[in-house]
Parts: sequence; structure tokens; C-alpha cells
Amino acid sequence: MKPQIQHFFDPRTFTATYLVFDVEGGHAAVIDPVLDYDPKSGRTKTESADQILAALKQHHLQLDWILETHAHADHFSGAHYLQKEAGGKIAIGARINQVQSVFKKLFHLEPELAVDGSQFDHLFQADECFQIGQLQAQALFVPGHTPADIAYKIDDAIFVGDTLFMPDVGTARCDFPGGDARMLYASIQRLLSFPDDTRLFMCHDYPPKDREVTIESNVRAQKEMNIHVHQGIDENAFVAMRTQRDAGLEMPVLILPAIQINIRAGNPPPPEANGISYLKIPLNAL
Ligand SMILES: [Fe+2]
Repeated sequence: MKPQIQHFFDPRTFTATYLVFDVEGGHAAVIDPVLDYDPKSGRTKTESADQILAALKQHHLQLDWILETHAHADHFSGAHYLQKEAGGKIAIGARINQVQSVFKKLFHLEPELAVDGSQFDHLFQADECFQIGQLQAQALFVPGHTPADIAYKIDDAIFVGDTLFMPDVGTARCDFPGGDARMLYASIQRLLSFPDDTRLFMCHDYPPKDREVTIESNVRAQKEMNIHVHQGIDENAFVAMRTQRDAGLEMPVLILPAIQINIRAGNPPPPEANGISYLKIPLNAL
């Protein structure tokens, strides 16, 4: 059965969120929902997530899964908010514990943060199969950008997370803690080993000036045209390119606040005695 796919693009963080469902009135998953955040005021908003809630209502869907491809560094996850409003299980790759351990140290969250993934309702083991109503899905383990990345394969569609971007943009960076360009190369080769017509849905698009935002590609187009990993680029050449390129990239504006929310499945840190949640900024530590 082919999934029905609706996408939502957040122009502030260049993030694509997907609503995937089996039939009208059936079962749905949301992949990588965004909670809007204004760093100037420290205020969150739910405009992006409310669009998804409206679509769930419009199609009379039961939300079964809220799927994170990884702990994002560029936006806050809307998972917690969506779950509160519509239910569903929040899931991420089982190796999120590694990401939590690294950032627990950086943010000095002793002993408050559990580093066993228990903030999430389900932790996917590598390549675990699951169902979204009548749809067959699989959590493909694709580490590299982070050690815990998952791509979600739902019939002939793969939601690639931060691995590949559109062919003219290339691939995800590998310089965050626990990132590894060699691992990313292997993960991408795995994605490119699926049949040529397999649809690939991006987690982000950063379009060059002369084209519109595009979030869908396929295996054939990536093999022929991806500027970083088209056929003929071997592992060593990729790793050299990726390492050099990453050395020149600035950290994403929201990495420090976003990680603190996202390793908690979209929850803010526990409020202090005055009822307000605070985020920390470690100075000269990242
Ligand atoms: Fe990311």
C-alpha cells in the first residue's frame, strides 16, 4: 500500500515536516515536527505544529507515531506538543542515549537528565520494522550526521533525515559531537542501494537562489547528480571533502537551545522554583 504524504516546510529553519497516513480516517505518523522558537524573546509558538493538527483533523486521522530522525540542532521539536494535543508515541533511534550522554556533560545536567532514552516512548533498534495502520514501515539506521540517525522507510518512500539533501545541495554535516563522515558515507551508500525509483524525502532544503524549495528526490537523481556523493566519488574523497567543508561551517544558531529541548523529546527542562524553565549556554565549551 502506498502512503499518502503531505509536507510542511518551515522557512525559518528550512525544515520539512511530513504527515504520512494510510487512508482517510485511518492512521498517521508525523516525521520531524517543528516547535517555533524566537531566540530574541525566548518564546515558543505552535503555529507550525498547529498546521499539522489541522491536517490530522481534516483527514480524520489517528496519530499513532511522532517520529524523530535525530536530535535536531537547528529547530525545536514539536513532538511533545503534538503528543499532548493528539496522542501518539514519540520515537527516535535507540542510540539517542549516546547523544544524551555527550550533551549531559556539555550542559552539566547532573544528575537531572536520564541518559537512557526514557524521555521517548519508543526507541528503534537498527532496522526495526513497525506499522502505521496498514502501512509497513522500517527504521533504517543511518548514522553519521549524529550517531543515532534513523531514516524512515514507508513502502517506496524514504524519509532520509540529515543524510542526503537535494542533489544540488549535497549532504549533511558531520562535525557535531559523535558525527562521523565515514559513517555518513556508508549510510548514504545504503540509501542509494534501494531501487532507482525509490522516493527520497528530505529533512531540509537550502535552495540556491535560482530554484524553489524542493523536498522530494529519488535514488536515481541522487546517484547521478548529488554534488557530494554522485556515483564515482569514493569514500576517501567524500570524507576529505566533508571534513574540509565542515571546518568552515559555523554552528547552527539554535544548536545550544535546541539540543536541550530535543534530547528531552521536545520537553523543556524542569521548571525552577518560580515555575519558569531555563536553557543554559555553556561558554567556550562547544
Ligand atoms: Fe540535523
